[in-house]
Amino acid sequence: MLSASHPLHATAGTGQARERTKAGGGAMEALLPGEVHDLSLEVQGKRLIDGVNLRITGGQITVVMGPNGAGKSLLLRLLHGLIAPTTGDISWAGRQLTEAVRSRQAMVFQRPVLLRRSVAANVDFVLKLRGIGSAERRDGILEHARLSESANQPARLLSGGEQQRLALARALAMEPGVLFLDEPTASLDPASTLLIEEMVRTAHGRGTKIIFVTHDIGQARRLADEVVFLHRGQVQEHTSAEEFFAAPNSDAARDYLAGRILL
Ligand SMILES: Nc1ncnc2c1ncn2[C@@H]1O[C@H](COP(=O)(O)OP(=O)(O)O)[C@@H](O)[C@H]1O
Ligand SMILES: [Mg+2]
Repeated sequence: MLSASHPLHATAGTGQARERTKAGGGAMEALLPGEVHDLSLEVQGKRLIDGVNLRITGGQITVVMGPNGAGKSLLLRLLHGLIAPTTGDISWAGRQLTEAVRSRQAMVFQRPVLLRRSVAANVDFVLKLRGIGSAERRDGILEHARLSESANQPARLLSGGEQQRLALARALAMEPGVLFLDEPTASLDPASTLLIEEMVRTAHGRGTKIIFVTHDIGQARRLADEVVFLHRGQVQEHTSAEEFFAAPNSDAARDYLAGRILL
């Protein structure tokens, strides 16, 4: 856990950011709710994200589902400020997507992003950025990711599942208020997938807001407290997982859940 005297992020510029230096619930309060108004993204005349309105609150794991090409990855990138929308706006706790806000968010991609260094050095790098590097802290993080045995190996020699656990461990070492995950287990086997899900659940329990993209219905059932169902760049449903799986409102979601391919 962070002590209140540690800056959460070395470059957290505002007093507001500095106030919320405690881990857990405090981190969550710092960025929520996320509010999205009339968001659209047009590329070469194609409307890839089409009039999305969303309010993202804390307390639940939010799973974004939808078929391939629905716009899930684009929506996540917009929410994290990696790309700029054509219209509309996004705010986190009333603040625009400034660097200070973005630095309180983290993202994990389908393909793990790692440094060409040892497993331990990958974690040390992040901790040092935050000014809280210590062998003890790093070892705890590696243990949580079940990577203690591989600490001194080059990260690139890890299996796919291990690499993704390391990528997730690095993201969590930032103690982000919001963590975006874009199909992080899409190329992993079932056992590796479950380990990632366990880490995600633990992070959620510690107060990090989880926004998890998957096209895997089984995974969504395991993880989701609420579902945002996206189809053709539009939010078709935003509802509790219970309601979504029991009685989806839209034809698109019904077809998707029934395994009928959507185009
Ligand atoms: N940079 C881009 N330029 C043009 N079209 C894109 C670009 N990125 C994604 N698309 C298109 O936008 C749609 C949504 O993409 P994406 O968000 O990656 O879908 P998903 O993640 O749901 O599978 C797809 O039809 C894709 O081909
Ligand atoms: Mg995608």
